[in-house]
Amino acid sequence: MDLANFLMALFEQIDRHARCRSWKDEQMELYDAMRTTFAARDFTDDEMSDETLYRVLDNARFAPSGGNRQGGRVIVVKDPDTKTALGRLCLPQLRVYGEQRRGGENPWQSVQPTDIDVEKVWNDESIPAVIPMFEDLSQTPTVLVIAVDLSVVASMDKDLDRVGIISGGSIYPMAWNILLGARNEGFGGTLTTLLAAQESKVQELLGLEPDVAVAALLTIGKPKKQLTKLSRKKVEEFTTVDRADGPAFTG
Ligand SMILES: Cc1cc2nc3c(=O)[nH]c(=O)nc-3n(C[C@H](O)[C@H](O)[C@H](O)COP(=O)(O)O)c2cc1C
Repeated sequence: MDLANFLMALFEQIDRHARCRSWKDEQMELYDAMRTTFAARDFTDDEMSDETLYRVLDNARFAPSGGNRQGGRVIVVKDPDTKTALGRLCLPQLRVYGEQRRGGENPWQSVQPTDIDVEKVWNDESIPAVIPMFEDLSQTPTVLVIAVDLSVVASMDKDLDRVGIISGGSIYPMAWNILLGARNEGFGGTLTTLLAAQESKVQELLGLEPDVAVAALLTIGKPKKQLTKLSRKKVEEFTTVDRADGPAFTG
């Protein structure tokens, strides 16, 4: 990068940072929101009001879904005991996640067999949670469970011999819209999926029908610290022209 480009990038960064500082009271510029919606897990005691949450959901509902079937469901979990129970249901999966990470594996990937003893780790309550938030969700200001009715979702890869990915496309846009909307309102949160591994227990706990899949648990609150610079790959690192082995797309 030559000096002129470096200075230009620096000024853009400063300008973006300055505009981000006014995030509290103003509607955000879309690209600012996209670049600064990080996984917030550490919250102040501030609650998001029901009025604000309704506004967030009222905008998030414009997310797309396959064939516009709109099978998404949102459960606003207010009961502290239910929040706690949901967090605890995540702990065995989180132990597996942590041990795989410690062993240098990509946790929960579906391609290679794991080297860890999943059953042993799953049941070993002496292993500390690598993400402490799940040990007690009762104080998390806003907890949302996002689910999707599979009886209306077009799962175009359902006959392929690999883990399904398409079905998620009919629900995660809405989940992400909720987090973008929360960011726009001065809040933050994290999209988490550990809960899905215990789907039948979640369905029982929340009264969800058997065909309604658990897609995510969103934890939302006022972040203690707002990050403005997220670590992500550059466009050139994941975009190529014409073929996967084609030249990097540089704009
Ligand atoms: C599909 C998906 C699943 C995720 N599952 C979890 C999870 O189970 N628990 C968790 O704490 N974070 C979870 N995350 C949050 C990611 O860890 C986070 O988005 C990522 O590390 C980037 O963090 P950053 O935006 O703060 O840089 C998930 C994110 C996505 C998109």
